[in-house]
Amino acid sequence: MPRTRDTEDITHGLSQRPASISPKYFYDQHGSRLFEAITQLPEYYPTRTEQALMRRHADDIARSVGTGRTLIELGAGNCQKARALCQLVRPACFVGVDISADYLREAVAGLQSDFPWLDARALGGDMTRGVELPADIPRAGRLVFYPGSSIGNFDPPHALQLLAHMRELVDDDGGLLIGIDLPKDVNVLEAAYDDAAGVTAEFNRNVLRHVNRLIGSDFDLAQWKHHAFFNPQESRIEMHLEALADAQVRWPGGGRMFEQGERIHTENSYKYPLPVFTAMLERAGFSDAQAWTDERGWFAVVHARP
Ligand code: AVI
Repeated sequence: MPRTRDTEDITHGLSQRPASISPKYFYDQHGSRLFEAITQLPEYYPTRTEQALMRRHADDIARSVGTGRTLIELGAGNCQKARALCQLVRPACFVGVDISADYLREAVAGLQSDFPWLDARALGGDMTRGVELPADIPRAGRLVFYPGSSIGNFDPPHALQLLAHMRELVDDDGGLLIGIDLPKDVNVLEAAYDDAAGVTAEFNRNVLRHVNRLIGSDFDLAQWKHHAFFNPQESRIEMHLEALADAQVRWPGGGRMFEQGERIHTENSYKYPLPVFTAMLERAGFSDAQAWTDERGWFAVVHARP
């Protein structure tokens, strides 16, 4: 098996104590579909709340954002959110960026056929390593769209770095439209990441299937239990996989023993209070933030300008 950046990254994380796997490895094709199923779950409120918020404040958001822009969506996935935004702000050009390139290409093709007036492009790539846009993507009037509170999956220093990178992607006439999940009742939070139907558990375990393919390891998915909880000190949901019994895992050139009860940390999902997040935006070079929230104060959509 060739040693790639992914191989290095994954084997390094697995060798740590406690072990970790980056959440970006959730999103192989099956993982992307499982995530789509998560967004439909009764317990998983973020997608639904953000969509309702954008529908409810559609006119205000459209006025704030403006029309005819070059819309760049990071982590575009099935392009469902882009579809709604395109209808609202009629951009001239759309660039969807996602790590799951095949899944994205299908979705962008669908968008293009439904909106023939739009110049729609798919860009496969790992945005956590920085996005490099093709030279023919117009610079003027760019709007970076980062919905779904995906920024919450990065730790705060990395999130700040990403926001600063988004600032570099736009000129002074550009903007950022971003969704963030806010702190709330711990029971609501924990149910959203440990649903009754077990879809999130399956999503979490699927990362091992993807890792097996990427590094040639022999994780047995049935030996790992999904574990999700809110960490109030860090204001984040943590997801882990816990070994149900002692497990010896091997991969070409290495391996590791996990004792029963040992965990692999697979994801953090930070919940930022709005003032904390807008302060972060300012540090990244965005100001003039305008935020819309739902009546329960669960989620916010923020538009900020350089
Ligand atoms: C993609 N991201 C914003 C999701 C979240 O809520 O942190 C990923 C997810 N993990 C478990 N459920 C959903």
